[in-house]
Amino acid sequence: MEMVILEDEQAVARRAADILESYVRPGATLGLATGSTPLGMYRDLIRRHRSSSLSFAGCRAFLLDEYVGLPSGHEQSYRETIRREFTREIDIADDQVLGPDGSAQDLWAAAQEYERAITDAGGVDIQVLGVGTDGHIGFNEPGSSLVSRTRLKTLHSQTVEDNARFFGSASEVPRHVLTQGLGTIVDAGHLLLLAIGPGKAQAVAALAEGPLSANCPASVLQWHPRATVVCDEAAAADLRHGEYYRAVLQAASARQLRRVAPEG
Ligand code: GLP
Repeated sequence: MEMVILEDEQAVARRAADILESYVRPGATLGLATGSTPLGMYRDLIRRHRSSSLSFAGCRAFLLDEYVGLPSGHEQSYRETIRREFTREIDIADDQVLGPDGSAQDLWAAAQEYERAITDAGGVDIQVLGVGTDGHIGFNEPGSSLVSRTRLKTLHSQTVEDNARFFGSASEVPRHVLTQGLGTIVDAGHLLLLAIGPGKAQAVAALAEGPLSANCPASVLQWHPRATVVCDEAAAADLRHGEYYRAVLQAASARQLRRVAPEG
């Protein structure tokens, strides 16, 4: 796992945008995440799109997850959120941005259909991830199978509480979701997890330095040959080997080793 600890939120957004941009070309498949953490990266990419020749034409995108039961077009649905925060501001075709259909009558069929769509697209080249305070990625709550595929999940009360800020109150947060499984997520070519702020420090330490365990679903990144964690100093505060990760990064940039191969 490549650990990239940077001074602040802006630096995280810039570095994440650099990494994502390196995958953007016609035919690329991008895995997008919602939540507040990647917003800075999206804003940076929108700025690059407007001011330079960065074009997303011919790219496809898949979302990690979706609430169950929100009508399509609901402003808090993840499909609508990603459209508002990112994809309508760039030149990716709207029908090339897909998410699991949380409004389907048959949720199991919708989950399988989503898996098929990802496979038919040839898989995801780079998957952006945030992390929940309880260590979830997508909506794979603690206890999720490390080889799970897209399916229905019930939200942890901690996640309901964390996400209440996007709704009027916790009682309005849907309790069920469709989410890519951990097995689906690790099929992506590159996993790029972003974390900002002291509220994520425990989760970052657990995912990077704790055991590979369903109890911390994000620890599945340890299983992936190409995983990059980009976080700010506050989110890195609980890491035991923080000094080592900073030294690796410094040595690599001094010798421009990143161009050859990042350390896995
Ligand atoms: C939600 C999303 C996750 C996201 C997490 C953290 O639960 N399903 O994909 O990573 O929230 O969100 P935030 O970045 O707002 O802290």
